[in-house]
Amino acid sequence: MVIYYSSTGNSKHVALKLHETVHGDLLDVTQLENKSLFQLKDGETLYLVTFNCFWGISKQMESFIKNSEFINLSKVVVIMTCGGYLGGGDFSVEKLFLEKSMPKPIIYSLVMVTNYSILHNIPSFEVQKKKLYHAEKALDRIIQGTQKPYHSNWFIRQLTPMIQAKYEKARSTLPFRTNGSCIGCRLCEKNCPVHAIVMQENKAAWVLKECDNCLRCLHRCPVEAINYGDSTKKRLRYTYESFTEAIK
Ligand SMILES: Cc1cc2nc3c(=O)[nH]c(=O)nc-3n(C[C@H](O)[C@H](O)[C@H](O)COP(=O)(O)O)c2cc1C
Ligand code: SF4
Ligand code: SF4
Repeated sequence: MVIYYSSTGNSKHVALKLHETVHGDLLDVTQLENKSLFQLKDGETLYLVTFNCFWGISKQMESFIKNSEFINLSKVVVIMTCGGYLGGGDFSVEKLFLEKSMPKPIIYSLVMVTNYSILHNIPSFEVQKKKLYHAEKALDRIIQGTQKPYHSNWFIRQLTPMIQAKYEKARSTLPFRTNGSCIGCRLCEKNCPVHAIVMQENKAAWVLKECDNCLRCLHRCPVEAINYGDSTKKRLRYTYESFTEAIK
């Protein structure tokens, strides 16, 4: 069984490729509605694929794990995609599983392309090409079982709660704005995993104080109308799908 959460397509690509080999159900966390009970077959592995979020996982993925029950679960593999460095991401996930008395997960880090344009630039297309080439090789090794799992060291684990605390602040929706180019297409409203966006006078408006900060809305807006304060104004947008279109 492969369950994934992805905002800009990196983790979705990983889940789809993994699913070609492992079969079983392929489920998108944002499409599960109220499903919270999952039955695994004897010997079946649960694969979770999700993005690294301030050295942890996003609230959406965290509450999915906290609120779900997995029957007949014996082995869990977690693949965390990231933009450069997983930090103590493994530590955050292990803690969550331990709290639920679930089996200790085997965790892999997979460096792809960062989408966190609030903090830094999205790399150029040439750099994206190199990073995703290496990511594909690493993914092949994960699937073949020849990649070493990820283990953060003691020092990084001590720093992790501090980095994770920054996520709480980053979840504020206050800085989100649309500029004059919003065409009212509703894509952001439809796509937001936590329903934080509602159309008001044919323009996107953020109606929740906090969201998942996944940046799905910002990167997937067809006219780049969404910004987070001034930080994202001059920065590129990224989705895995637009990258694959561009290399065709
Ligand atoms: C809120 C947020 C926090 C992030 N934090 C980190 C981080 O701490 N380290 C890192 O390398 N990448 C970080 N990233 C980048 C993503 O983990 C990375 O781009 C990921 O592959 C995106 O996956 P997706 O395309 O499946 O959404 C962050 C992205 C978001 C949206
Ligand atoms: S996706 Fe962009 S253009 Fe479409 S409604 Fe949202 S902000 Fe406006
Ligand atoms: S408002 Fe945007 S960043 Fe926040 S959860 Fe919704 S899609 Fe993600």
